[in-house]
Amino acid sequence: MNDLIDMWTLQPQQTTELLQLAQTIKQRPAAWATFLQGKSIALLFEKPSLRTRASFAAGIHRLGGHSIYLDAQNLIGEREPASDVGANLALWHDAIVARVFSQQTITDLAAASDKPVINALSDTCHPCQALADLLTLQEQVGALDQIHFTYIGDGNNVCQALMAGAAQTGMHMQVVTPLGYAPDAAMLAQAQQLAQQSGGSITLVHDLDQLQSTDVIYTDTWVSMGQERDQGAVMQDFAPYQVNRALMQQLNANYFMHCLPAYRGREVTAEVIDSPQSLVLFQAENRLHAQNAVLVKLFEGAHA
Ligand code: CP
Ligand code: NVA
Repeated sequence: MNDLIDMWTLQPQQTTELLQLAQTIKQRPAAWATFLQGKSIALLFEKPSLRTRASFAAGIHRLGGHSIYLDAQNLIGEREPASDVGANLALWHDAIVARVFSQQTITDLAAASDKPVINALSDTCHPCQALADLLTLQEQVGALDQIHFTYIGDGNNVCQALMAGAAQTGMHMQVVTPLGYAPDAAMLAQAQQLAQQSGGSITLVHDLDQLQSTDVIYTDTWVSMGQERDQGAVMQDFAPYQVNRALMQQLNANYFMHCLPAYRGREVTAEVIDSPQSLVLFQAENRLHAQNAVLVKLFEGAHA
């Protein structure tokens, strides 16, 4: 593994190994306390963040490394191209964690940098979130290939990362979005093909009446960072897709998940997200452990 550009570049076996490693590091953190000693990692953010920024900073510290936060709002593209940013950062840092508007920026950073680049969210993918979510499902729900999982809402970055992760691990995932908010068709096809090999399944519907019973319901914000959506249209298009007590009961769902930040009263009711069925804090906690597994995998060769 040279980079974590998106979820799609991971082989199913690599995803499984990352989840195992995350468990191991979580259980025995002391064994990894000097793994990144002497290493410096740049955290480059074009968009706001709480969980990703704070969990990378804390996680790198726990591995004995050092991180710096670079506010890249209005930096990449406007001040200098991503290729120059990547080439320069690689002179002083051992890896780059980047949250960007366009997936192309991740690709450009990785091409210009001879150090690992980790996607900390782009318009098309949020691999660190998906890995933490798979870890949470394993811990809190059970074997991934036995799980029936429903993603409801906007079919963008988080949904697409989860589709890849679900397909790699044999999960049964149904995606339900309003018309016009479906995940990328090529990614859906890729996930469906991959799921055939892993024994899982990925389906897409727009009609809530076509949903099957599920173990878990997952949702995300209706307006992602950087999107300029008409509020009225958003409410009209997404309102029927709110996760509330009635939907949880209709689908026999035992668990609720959300990447956060969440907007109570919009994509989910407070009654659901603040209930014992909600796994959101387990997900947030596992961001650190999943990301530390990624960092260990990326630098493993350096320790061989
Ligand atoms: N879930 C997530 O990525 O949260 P932040 O935007 O706060 O980093
Ligand atoms: N889809 C959301 C995820 C936030 C973690 C966004 O891109 O803003």
